[in-house]
Amino acid sequence: MSSQNIYILGIESSCDDTAASVIYNGKILSNVVANQKIHEEYGGVVPELASRAHQQNIVPVVDQALKKANITKEHLHAIAFTRGPGLMGSLLVGTSFAKSLAMGLDIPLIDVNHMQAHILAHFIDEEGFNKPPFPFLAMTISGGHTQIVKVSNYFEMEVIGETIDDAVGEAYDKSGKILGLGYPAGPEIDKLAHSGNPKAFQFTKPKVAGLNFSFSGLKTGILYFIQRETKVNPNFIEENINDICASIQYTIIGILIDKLKLASKQTGIKHIAIGGGVSANSGIRQALKNGESKFGWTTYVPKFEFTTDNAAMIAIVGYLKYLENNFSEQNVTASARLKI
Ligand code: KG4
Ligand code: ZN
Repeated sequence: MSSQNIYILGIESSCDDTAASVIYNGKILSNVVANQKIHEEYGGVVPELASRAHQQNIVPVVDQALKKANITKEHLHAIAFTRGPGLMGSLLVGTSFAKSLAMGLDIPLIDVNHMQAHILAHFIDEEGFNKPPFPFLAMTISGGHTQIVKVSNYFEMEVIGETIDDAVGEAYDKSGKILGLGYPAGPEIDKLAHSGNPKAFQFTKPKVAGLNFSFSGLKTGILYFIQRETKVNPNFIEENINDICASIQYTIIGILIDKLKLASKQTGIKHIAIGGGVSANSGIRQALKNGESKFGWTTYVPKFEFTTDNAAMIAIVGYLKYLENNFSEQNVTASARLKI
């Protein structure tokens, strides 16, 4: 990496987290995230409310990121922002803020693909975390996406498998809704699963050819199962919540690991990384680790704070692009369906 002294501000506003981060060369100096509590009562993200909350949060969040990094905006060399994919109303807030800040400071603007950022978060300089060598496989698992990506270089990525319906995070969140848990349900299911028996209940795994995923059938299977059981015993959920969560988690992890095994076999690549909100899951982390002795993999799991949506991952991509003089024009537009 370069020996220049580069400060970059990263801004993330693709969904319901407003985030800002300052990176100095490859090292994160600050990583501020404002979660939007407002969506909890709706059991999912409400786009209009998300956009409004971003407008309220963005100035204080950026301000805090600069303060925590102990710099002023005049120190910055470039502004990196999430261009997409995500919710259009949310993306527009970050995009227009980044554009005006870059213009006001007369420094380069750098657009970042959110899904690439989840993968490139592995290149943040962080003690105790190794960076994967190219080529490696990255499985991005979040509330909006489920993909297996062959990463040949920083910006040379190919999606080799993806979900044909729901994302894996949605499977967690929708299962949680059926069970009466809060939103997002992933972390809670993960916690409850610890004290349950993963083989207590069996759920059918989807049959999807090749490296693609499907999670909508699993969600329906869980719904019918719960409806059937609660008819017999109205307290079924309360009495079995740990076992239900452990069994759901076991099934989901099985689906993910099966596809990773196939991807590794087909490509011959044994360096395997995960990213995205669901990579915070303790079960998938353990299963990946087990793959080291079972399948000869070398695995890479991001630091916890870089798994769910954050701006540090946007800042590292900004830094990598800055080194390549890969800047955006002021007329760049947000793109809700931006592809890798
Ligand atoms: O990457 P992310 O913050 O936002 C998107 O880009 O979607 O991911 C959020 C998703 C939610 O579905 C949430 O339930 C899930 O990540 N999640 C988890 C865990 N922590 C977050 N799922 C399972 N186990 C967890 N520990
Ligand atoms: Zn994300």
